[in-house]
Amino acid sequence: MLYLIHRVKEEFMMQKLTSLTSPLELNNGVKIPGLGFGTYQTPADVTYDVVTKALKAGYRHIDTAFLYGNEEGVGKAIKDSGLAREEVFVTSKLWNTDRGYDKTMAAFEKTMANLGLDYLDLYLIHWPANHKQFGDEAEKINAETWRAFEDLYKAGKIKAIGLSNFMPNHIDALLKTAEIKPMVNQIEVHPGWPQTEAIRYNERHGILTEAWAPLGEAAALSNETIAQIAAKYGKSTAQVCLRWGIQQGILPLPKSVHEERIIQNTDIFDFELTEDEMDIIGALRNLGGQCKVPDQVDF
Ligand SMILES: NC(=O)c1ccc[n+]([C@@H]2O[C@H](COP(=O)([O-])OP(=O)(O)OC[C@H]3O[C@@H](n4cnc5c(N)ncnc54)[C@H](OP(=O)(O)O)[C@@H]3O)[C@@H](O)[C@H]2O)c1
Repeated sequence: MLYLIHRVKEEFMMQKLTSLTSPLELNNGVKIPGLGFGTYQTPADVTYDVVTKALKAGYRHIDTAFLYGNEEGVGKAIKDSGLAREEVFVTSKLWNTDRGYDKTMAAFEKTMANLGLDYLDLYLIHWPANHKQFGDEAEKINAETWRAFEDLYKAGKIKAIGLSNFMPNHIDALLKTAEIKPMVNQIEVHPGWPQTEAIRYNERHGILTEAWAPLGEAAALSNETIAQIAAKYGKSTAQVCLRWGIQQGILPLPKSVHEERIIQNTDIFDFELTEDEMDIIGALRNLGGQCKVPDQVDF
């Protein structure tokens, strides 16, 4: 049943992915490659090498953040790849200590200097300010941060702007003052933590869901149910987790520092999970990963 809903949505959006570079279209018309490469916890001193390998493996979408401390390696690998700038989609994120209009403007400049690029494809607010930390000020802080994002977008410095870890209540609040609708919301999604309600909400608002920790930070990979499904297709459990993501119309961002895994994670376009398998994986719970609730975090 769940899968049927996913399927209707997939056909409605007519954005079926057939290869690593198949694009999805954002609500402002910008095209984004439907599988991205993650770099969280990729140490700065290996990032250049790892991202070079990812680009060689065919990824054309790299996800980084100011927090990761590796924007420089990402930018240099793209520059040295021989690919034209417009062939690679680059995302970075504003860290939590830089919220607010003026600080966002300054943080964006720092990120661009780190990357050494003259425009960014996608910039995300890494986490919403929440009531736990900021009380009634939270919504105002998010609105002011978003106003800076809108101005950077209008100035042509960013092709698309979006959110990360925003749940429906945060987006409802933001939309009260937003002039420009977010194009993306990057949230934790993996077997065991399906986030169905948040994904549905994003869909209804024309916001593309990106899945961080699509492998549950590797915790989902030892699950027996997923292993049985993987064996049927001659695939790895990682490939099944990623396939489960793209068949729902969401955009997974797997990370690895190992070349064979970097390559393996791209090989997910030659099999299709059945409706039952989609539902079985969607019903799994408590496999691991961070499973953070954005209204409860202290950072
Ligand atoms: N917006 C946010 O708040 C947020 C938060 C977290 C992450 N992210 C983004 O989402 C990306 C992905 O999340 P993540 O890095 O936390 O977790 P992930 O991609 O779910 O899992 C990464 C882990 O899985 C291992 N792995 C990868 N491919 C594998 C394979 N084929 N077989 C076996 N093990 C494999 C990796 O090990 P090795 O590296 O050792 O190969 C690493 O330990 C991040 O890198 C980042 O870009 C965003």
